[in-house]
Amino acid sequence: MKQTLMKLPSSLAVVLFILSTLWLSTTSNPILENFLKCLPEQTHSNYSISEAIYTSQNATFESVLLSYIRNGRYLTPTTPKPLAIVTAKHESHVQATVICAKRHGLQIRIRSGGHDYEGLSYVSHVPFVILDMFHLRAIHVDVADESAWVESGAIVGELYYEIAKNSKVHGFSAAAGPTVGVGGHFSGGGYGVMMRKYGLTVDNIEDAKLVNVNGTVLDRKSMGEDLFWAIRGGGGASFGVILSWKIKLLPVPAKVTVFNVGRTLEQGATDVLYRWQHVAPKLPKEIFIRAMPQVLNTSLGNKTVEVSFIGFFLGQSDELLSLINRSLPELGLQKTDCNEMSWVESTVFWANYTVGTSIDVLLERPKGPTDSFKGKSDYVKEPIPKQDIEFILKELLKMENLWMQWNPYGGRMSEISESETPFPHRAGNLFLIQYSSSWEEEGIEATNKYLSLSRKFYKIMTPFVSKRPREAFQNYRDLDIGANLDNQTIFNIARVYGSKYFEGNFERLVNVKTEVDPQNFFKHEQSIPPLA
Ligand SMILES: Cc1cc2nc3c(=O)[nH]c(=O)nc-3n(C[C@H](O)[C@H](O)[C@H](O)COP(=O)(O)OP(=O)(O)OC[C@H]3O[C@@H](n4cnc5c(N)ncnc54)[C@H](O)[C@@H]3O)c2cc1C
Ligand SMILES: *[C@@H]1O[C@H](CO)[C@@H](O)[C@H](O)[C@H]1NC(C)=O
Ligand SMILES: *[C@@H]1O[C@H](CO)[C@@H](O)[C@H](O)[C@H]1NC(C)=O
Ligand SMILES: *[C@@H]1O[C@H](CO)[C@@H](O)[C@H](O)[C@H]1NC(C)=O
Ligand SMILES: *[C@@H]1O[C@H](CO)[C@@H](O)[C@H](O)[C@H]1NC(C)=O
Ligand SMILES: *[C@@H]1O[C@H](CO)[C@@H](O)[C@H](O)[C@H]1NC(C)=O
Ligand SMILES: *[C@@H]1O[C@H](CO)[C@@H](O)[C@H](O)[C@H]1NC(C)=O
Ligand SMILES: *[C@@H]1O[C@H](CO)[C@@H](O)[C@H](O)[C@H]1NC(C)=O
Ligand SMILES: *[C@@H]1O[C@H](CO)[C@@H](O)[C@H](O)[C@H]1NC(C)=O
Repeated sequence: MKQTLMKLPSSLAVVLFILSTLWLSTTSNPILENFLKCLPEQTHSNYSISEAIYTSQNATFESVLLSYIRNGRYLTPTTPKPLAIVTAKHESHVQATVICAKRHGLQIRIRSGGHDYEGLSYVSHVPFVILDMFHLRAIHVDVADESAWVESGAIVGELYYEIAKNSKVHGFSAAAGPTVGVGGHFSGGGYGVMMRKYGLTVDNIEDAKLVNVNGTVLDRKSMGEDLFWAIRGGGGASFGVILSWKIKLLPVPAKVTVFNVGRTLEQGATDVLYRWQHVAPKLPKEIFIRAMPQVLNTSLGNKTVEVSFIGFFLGQSDELLSLINRSLPELGLQKTDCNEMSWVESTVFWANYTVGTSIDVLLERPKGPTDSFKGKSDYVKEPIPKQDIEFILKELLKMENLWMQWNPYGGRMSEISESETPFPHRAGNLFLIQYSSSWEEEGIEATNKYLSLSRKFYKIMTPFVSKRPREAFQNYRDLDIGANLDNQTIFNIARVYGSKYFEGNFERLVNVKTEVDPQNFFKHEQSIPPLA
């Protein structure tokens, strides 16, 4: 997704989206009224909740709703809207929202950064309210203890910035996109360029604070190890509202090295990508090289595929060059391709800003979506034969607005057992593929066109990826792989998506869910179901 180009679609869709809420203001809804009456009753008067509540009566309702919609696919006049948004300013507001929504039969959708690919943090087809976490964004770094507490409404860019402010030799293993929210990202098992060295976000979490279904605030000790296990990768929204996380700060050298080199089909991209599969998952843990095949328009007016190889190394360029020269000479990496910089500057580079951009961009919270998108994911366990790589890139060339990211696993990822956290995709996986399709055109026809292209390409990839189940990464949410209706959770449907996201861990997640939320209050289209 183009982090740098965040802009509001200034279009008809936004106008219609806003107009479409007007009917709400003329409709009185007894369930909503009871919910609104309940909120202050459940809040201590020291922490007045009134300024945290938005309904369609408040002039700024639409702009608050829109601020953290990251996918233009859910900014249409027909997208269902919440009856209210509670922008919690204190943990007691979170408690009150849970208690009152449960009491009055309203579904809640919990939103931190709003990056959910399928909009599940802010759209539901039954009467619902949004619990918006963006005010709760405090970060406390404790360098002496090599730890930090970070609230769910922080974005990862703010976390990187704050760590760097306190230490030049610490970092954290989380998303390359700085606007990603801590609440959804961590609970979904987030990864970034230090995954091969340190594992996922969830492999580096020491404690958490959560509001459970009864509105009680729990920490690791009081929630117990089963629930603490479940929220580290099982998706927070099935179990409670995560208020904050305690993370382990991770050592980084004062200088790291990054590069981004592109090779077109004409420049031998097929050969390099073929070799990359064998090499990238086996390189030392300090090296992460993402391969990103995308269609490129040449200056001559024809199309080709260019594969970008984007690298991160916990060390300096001379050592990196000699390692790459030995193991992946096909890439032809040169000293001039390498940029040495501090770890925090490397997070700016990975967010696709040019070298030299101020780290202040990490603090930017653009309002609303840039465009519409659809994401899907796959795991690859065997290297793909060269003629098939050639075939895949040719098929990609026929697609419109579709690109891939191939992210190497191995290293630390292979050392952690499949049941250590709910995230099961460990040893035996060479790389994770993300398919991403994005478009600016509005309307259902464009949406259907790009959705069907994306599904077509996913089908083409079937022979080359994991099978039985065809595994998927939960943070790349995809309702195509199995989904419930949002008004009822059917166990056998949940088993379908559950086994793809969690494999053998699905059963333990169900047991935890049955223990902590037997009435299934915390639910969405791909939540973990309780046993009947
Ligand atoms: C531009 C972009 C870049 C990305 N880069 C990466 C990447 O590098 N690595 C990676 O692993 N993923 C990446 N992702 C995917 C991202 O990790 C997921 O979309 C993640 O769920 C986003 O978290 P969020 O808080 O922003 O989203 P939200 O939409 O707010 O939440 C996502 C899900 O988590 C739930 N949730 C949110 N907050 C809480 C909470 N406090 N308590 C309980 N449940 C909660 C929501 O209800 C929803 O189900 C990227 C996504 C985008 C759009
Ligand atoms: C990165 O930026 C370049 C130039 O601005 C743009 O062409 C490219 O599409 C961007 N890539 C991503 C992944 O956003
Ligand atoms: C409310 O505020 C008063 C006065 O500042 C303080 O004495 C009291 O402890 C507070 N109560 C809570 C629950 O925070
Ligand atoms: C929204 O309007 C209500 C009713 O006028 C008011 O009590 C509340 O404070 C408003 N919300 C915000 C965030 O200003
Ligand atoms: C390439 O050009 C075509 C036709 O002009 C255009 O539709 C498409 O969006 C362009 N693709 C990229 C990746 O720039
Ligand atoms: C562009 O197309 C022309 C004519 O088909 C071909 O000769 C040329 O090699 C192509 N160039 C590239 C960079 O693909
Ligand atoms: C790579 O190694 C070859 C010989 O092994 C050497 O000639 C070349 O200069 C090296 N290139 C780089 C960039 O280190
Ligand atoms: C859920 O919604 C669907 C579609 O709107 C409807 O057909 C179905 O009866 C509903 N089921 C329940 C249990 O409410
Ligand atoms: C919630 O409260 C109910 C009723 O008091 C109790 O039976 C249940 O065990 C509580 N659940 C949790 C998870 O604390």
